Amino acid sequence: MSKQRRPLIAGNWKMNGLVGSATPELQELVKRAGDHPDPKCDILICPPATLLYEMVSLAEGSAVKIGGQNCHANESGAHTGDISAEMLKDAGAEYCIVGHSERRADHGESNAVVKAKAEAALRAGLIAIVCVGETLVEREGDKTLDVISDQVRNSLPGGATASNTVIAYEPVWAIGTGKTPTPENVADVHAHIRKELGSMMGDSDSVRVLYGGSVKGSNAAELMAVENVDGALVGGASLKAVDFWPIVSTCI
Ligand code: 13P
Repeated sequence: MSKQRRPLIAGNWKMNGLVGSATPELQELVKRAGDHPDPKCDILICPPATLLYEMVSLAEGSAVKIGGQNCHANESGAHTGDISAEMLKDAGAEYCIVGHSERRADHGESNAVVKAKAEAALRAGLIAIVCVGETLVEREGDKTLDVISDQVRNSLPGGATASNTVIAYEPVWAIGTGKTPTPENVADVHAHIRKELGSMMGDSDSVRVLYGGSVKGSNAAELMAVENVDGALVGGASLKAVDFWPIVSTCI
């Protein structure tokens, strides 16, 4: 991890959690964070939208920030079932994940759609976490760096800066599978992302690039030690405070 970039350890709860089960987990996370009055990293939980308001109020005054998992590109309008970035902000969110591979796959979100959502997040005053990552077929076809270049160049919001945008590299084949790339593979992709950012924005050296995909307590330290890895985007291991905390502990 770099000294110039403050790490971010983010939990993506995906479509998991009810008030009854999520409340004690967030309370436990807030309690553990409270034992570190001067944390050296940012801590974020992105619950399902139904839990945002509740989780924001539980986390209030703590180091734990709350974010959304997706947003619509428009501010408001006739889009049944959708949620705007402004609504997330209104509920107390500070970040919004966009372009997660599950949304790219399940909802056919193209780079252009992801870019529009990232721009909506910035418009609302949220920090956009833009996800990129190759599939197994792309990796085996030696296309990883080309796919990443295409996604980074075409999904990032106009006006991206180190303070309003975070990139998350999540190889699709590593998500929820227990498989992770080698530290060398992660280093190669993160260096490539940073090179791409260098040609797109002025303060690219300060942009945080997270790794995501089967991060857990047992592999977090090794992954977080990789050059240009500035934190983690964690799925399954973020659902329980007892599993998430060892990952946070690598940087707090
Ligand atoms: P897992 O940590 O469950 O592999 O999920 C990663 C992810 O998709 C986070 O956004």
